[in-house]
Amino acid sequence: SSETLILGIETSCDETAASVVRNGTEIVSNVVASQIESHKRFGGVVPEIASRHHVEQMTIVVEEALEQAEVTMDEIDAIAVTEGPGLVGALIIGVNAAKAIAFAHQKPLIGVHHIAGHIYANRLIEEMKFPLLSLVVSGGHTELVLMKEHGSFEVIGETRDDAAGEAYDKVARTLGMPYPGGPHIDKLAHEGTPSVKLPRAWLEEGSYDFSFSGLKSAVINTLHNAEQRGEEIDVKDLAASFQESVVEVLTEKTKRAVEEYGVKQLLLAGGVAANKGLRTRLTEMFGEREDLELVIPPLSLCTDNAAMIAAAGTVMYEQGKRSTLTMNANPGLML
Ligand code: KG4
Ligand code: ZN
Repeated sequence: SSETLILGIETSCDETAASVVRNGTEIVSNVVASQIESHKRFGGVVPEIASRHHVEQMTIVVEEALEQAEVTMDEIDAIAVTEGPGLVGALIIGVNAAKAIAFAHQKPLIGVHHIAGHIYANRLIEEMKFPLLSLVVSGGHTELVLMKEHGSFEVIGETRDDAAGEAYDKVARTLGMPYPGGPHIDKLAHEGTPSVKLPRAWLEEGSYDFSFSGLKSAVINTLHNAEQRGEEIDVKDLAASFQESVVEVLTEKTKRAVEEYGVKQLLLAGGVAANKGLRTRLTEMFGEREDLELVIPPLSLCTDNAAMIAAAGTVMYEQGKRSTLTMNANPGLML
């Protein structure tokens, strides 16, 4: 038939996910089993626990995705799976499930880069217009990616240390908040004012790279110093100041890249895209521009899911890209 139905599988971190996507643009089903509750008490994702949950959930989630889509494996054109990057033990579960399904049903297999997935989540809500720039901000990544056509990715900037979400999570942990801490800091930040002086890592002139570990340390030091001096520090103001620094650096670098590359679209991707401060600032900066379309996906498509993997996999499928059954999980996969 003329339509393409792709089954997507994602297990790179702490969500076991499967989805069926039609023509790379339409979600037919999107099932996500989150493990957050199991990792919370450890203050972060425990790789061994993640792998075990993936093993337990994988078959259930895939069956559920097919059932909700009301399709059988016969109707599926190919299996797309996150090949990397991510936790190796977690990736292996998804990759092996995808290989087994592909082999059993004699379907093409497509290994997808996790970040390509985050970017392609946008295609599930809006047509992509090239050249485009994507700001990818998650627990594991902070990247500015330039795309001149489908399936081509040029990383023009990336973090040299902590990812933006990682910095949020670590600061939150210092403040005694549960994992994942990003949403808690975001909420606190809106109740405070950015009155604490914190650094901004602009790095060398013209660089699109990021660095958040210095900022994270500055927040921790500010807290400890105040404690030692017996001074009260307003946690809300500290959260607001931290968020202001992160949002300012992210959006200023994005703005410079938008101008330099003359892009038609700006796509936000990754879990930190849920951040209200970031969404508001991007909307203020770019929302009214006629030469540029700002796309911000709904939260459910910003955090890890398999629909985004199926969407990215569809483009690869249409471009004739195929993986073989020798494919392995690749935690260091390059975009
Ligand atoms: O994309 P994602 O679900 O998983 C990865 O691929 O990393 O992103 C999760 C990250 C976590 O670090 C979490 O704290 C952060 O996204 N996050 C936020 C917010 N909501 C989630 N960070 C800041 N503000 C938020 N509202
Ligand atoms: Zn992710």
